[in-house]
Order: sequence, then structure tokens, then C-alpha cells
Amino acid sequence: MVSTTLITGASSGIGEELASRFAQRGEDLVLVARRRDRLDALADRIGDEFGVDVEVIDMDLADVHAARELRDRVGSRRIDTVINNAGFGLSGDVADLDPEDLDAMVKVNCLALTGITSRFLGDMVARNHGTIVNIASTAAYQPVPHMAVYAASKAFVLSLTEALWAETAEHGVRVLAACPGPTETEFFEHAGRKAAVGRMRSAGQVADALMEALDGRSPSFVDGWLNRLIAKGSSFLPKAWVLKIAAAAVN
Ligand SMILES: NC(=O)c1ccc[n+]([C@@H]2O[C@H](COP(=O)([O-])OP(=O)(O)OC[C@H]3O[C@@H](n4cnc5c(N)ncnc54)[C@H](OP(=O)(O)O)[C@@H]3O)[C@@H](O)[C@H]2O)c1
Repeated sequence: MVSTTLITGASSGIGEELASRFAQRGEDLVLVARRRDRLDALADRIGDEFGVDVEVIDMDLADVHAARELRDRVGSRRIDTVINNAGFGLSGDVADLDPEDLDAMVKVNCLALTGITSRFLGDMVARNHGTIVNIASTAAYQPVPHMAVYAASKAFVLSLTEALWAETAEHGVRVLAACPGPTETEFFEHAGRKAAVGRMRSAGQVADALMEALDGRSPSFVDGWLNRLIAKGSSFLPKAWVLKIAAAAVN
């Protein structure tokens, strides 16, 4: 039986690259995002190139009922892998940003991700088979002043996903949190160029590293050796230093 992978945020960047990687493996796809035209074009391209079946679902994951609606729209179709990749960041101080925009960010990055995970995980546990990948960030490893809500949302994703790894380890379900660092995508059109700190990786490099990490057993991975050094190294420094360095980097 052909496996099916559901990817949110597949209309650009890391999600688009991941769609190609899974199609290359011969897996059918369910692609989710708001921009239907981009999803349709991607579905046509990878459907032709790899001969896989690609279903497109356009929806706004900032809607509080998005996860339930997505589960309903997928229906009885068996989903082997869920990749919660959709997400966005905003830079600026919490006091200055539009509270509605911050709400939307938490809804997409945390609420929808949790709702989608919980709605597909039960079937996977029951089947003793399945994979959940949640895209966190190196921003999960320390608070980031001027991107405070984004970094906090990714700390939520990392913590949730690592705990799920342990909850499901004996049920044949592979759970992985992926933590990219700065990656050249449309992300910075929303987050602002100031958020582009350090050396950029490409979305293709992140997708390749993720596919490799999936074959391992670790609950999470940081993409790129320099990102790994910075993310893990921050835990050895006094918190006040880490906050000052992070604040200076984004400001
Ligand atoms: N780029 C980086 O430096 C970086 C670093 C660490 C982590 N990440 C994480 O990587 C993931 C992918 O981001 P990316 O870098 O590939 O950026 P991207 O090119 O901007 O892709 C973001 C994807 O999320 C989707 N999305 C955003 N808001 C949505 C909503 N309300 N409803 C449905 N879909 C929505 C977008 O689709 P539509 O606009 O069509 O809806 C798009 O497909 C995100 O979770 C991001 O936080 C990125």
C-alpha cells in the first residue's frame, strides 16, 4: 500500500521542498496552505515528475477550528506521516505589535499544530505505525527579545514534540522536532529582514537534513553544525548574556 504524507505550509519554502522529497520516495501527498494557486502548481509539477497522487486542501490554519476541519476534510483516508510545517514569525516588541497578529501567530504555530497532531496521532498509535514531524526552530532554545512570541511558540513546539516522542516510543510511532536556523525562504517577508541573523541555509538543505534525521531515533535535531553550536551553547551561558546577545542580533 502506498503511504500518504500530509504537509502543512507546502505552498513555499521548507514545506515545498519536503513535498518533493516525500514524492521522490513514491509517497502520495496531501498539501495544505492558504494559497491554492501555489499548491495546485506544486501538485501538478510533482504529480507529473514522480507519478504520485497529490491532494490539495486550501485552508487558513489561523482559524480556531482549522484542525478539526482538516481532519474532517481528510476523512477516512489513511495518513502515514503528518508534517506540521506551517508557521510564521513577526519581529517587533510585544507592546508595539498588533495583538490580533500575535493571536494569529500562536493559533498557526501552536494551536493548529497541536490540534492536527492530536487528531491524527490516535490512529497512528492504534495502528502501531506513523510519523509526526513538527517544525520548531533554533529560536526554541532561548528567549528572543523583539521576536518574543515567535520564539516562545517554537519553544512550545519543541517541548510538546519531545514529550510526544516519549509518549509514543513504544507504539511504533516516529515523532521528530526539526529545528532549522535562518533559512532562505519567504519567512523573512513576514518576519522582516532584521530577523535574518547569521549564515542562511537553503530550504533544500533543511529538507535533506530532516529526511536524514527521520531515519534516526533522536526526538529532535538542529539543522546545520553552526546552528547546533549556537542553540546548544546558549544553555551554558548566564541567561542575562543570552538575552542581550539575542536582543542585539534581532534589533
Ligand atoms: N525560514 C527560517 O529561517 C526558519 C527558521 C526556523 C524555523 N522556520 C519554520 O519553518 C516553517 C516553514 O517556514 P518557511 O521558512 O518555509 O517559510 P515560508 O516560505 O514563509 O512558508 C510558510 C508556510 O506556512 C504557510 N502558512 C503560514 N500561515 C498560514 C496560515 N494561516 N494557514 C495556512 N498556512 C499558513 C504558508 O502558506 P500560505 O501563505 O499559502 O498559507 C507557507 O506555505 C515555519 O514553521 C517556520 O516558523 C523557518
